[in-house]
Amino acid sequence: MQKLYIHPLPVRIWHWVNASGIVALILTGLQIRYVGAIDVLSFGTAISLHNWIGFILIANFFVWLLFYLFSDKTRVYHPELSPTKYFRDSLRQIQYYGYGIFKGDPNPHHVTAYRKFNALQSMSYQIVMMVAVPIQFYTGLLLWDVTRFAGAVAFFGGVRVVDTVHVLLFIFFVSFVCIHIYLATLGHTRTAHIKAMLTGYEEIEHETTHGA
Ligand code: HEM
Repeated sequence: MQKLYIHPLPVRIWHWVNASGIVALILTGLQIRYVGAIDVLSFGTAISLHNWIGFILIANFFVWLLFYLFSDKTRVYHPELSPTKYFRDSLRQIQYYGYGIFKGDPNPHHVTAYRKFNALQSMSYQIVMMVAVPIQFYTGLLLWDVTRFAGAVAFFGGVRVVDTVHVLLFIFFVSFVCIHIYLATLGHTRTAHIKAMLTGYEEIEHETTHGA
């Protein structure tokens, strides 16, 4: 067992503020959507909380973005792999999660400081952070003040279209969080990956440190 520092402090701060904020947005979002059926908060309080948390998470997003833009860690999202190798690694990872793991096979991905993610993680985190999160924040901003942003709302086809995109992404995030938490428990112990996201250090069972 060796310890490898893979999650720098800004990423850890961003991650846990983001994780708790997204869960709070999901819960206040449900309260807003199902007012009458759920009455934990008043409609006004739920909207106000949802807006405040939304703005905090928009600011927090830039912690993640600026960290990766201005540090050499950007490489963790761009491993030097040919598209064929990337595709093959993704298939190997799918085979592991869908079948190998249940037979006790070892994880085909070996973590190093600059390759902390397997091919599936690196692809899905980039889609989440560069597509889903920005669209969700942008549609949220438009819905926050449809009068101020009337031009943009009309450009995208009206409040209904913007709201539908926001709700579809809400469903995506609920599914993402469930799958993400399940995958986060698949380290060498149930809590190993989660502890690593808290301390920065992942415990690695093999000797490979190249690239670190
Ligand atoms: C709510 C409970 C959550 C837990 C327990 C959790 C756990 C983890 C863990 C253990 C990692 C380390 C890498 C890995 O194992 O995949 C991670 C990374 C990551 N998580 Fe979460 N997560 C949570 C919520 C979220 C949410 C809501 C989002 C985004 C909407 C998110 C986005 C990410 C991203 C993008 C990374 C990669 C971070 C990097 O750039 O290094 N997580 N998460």
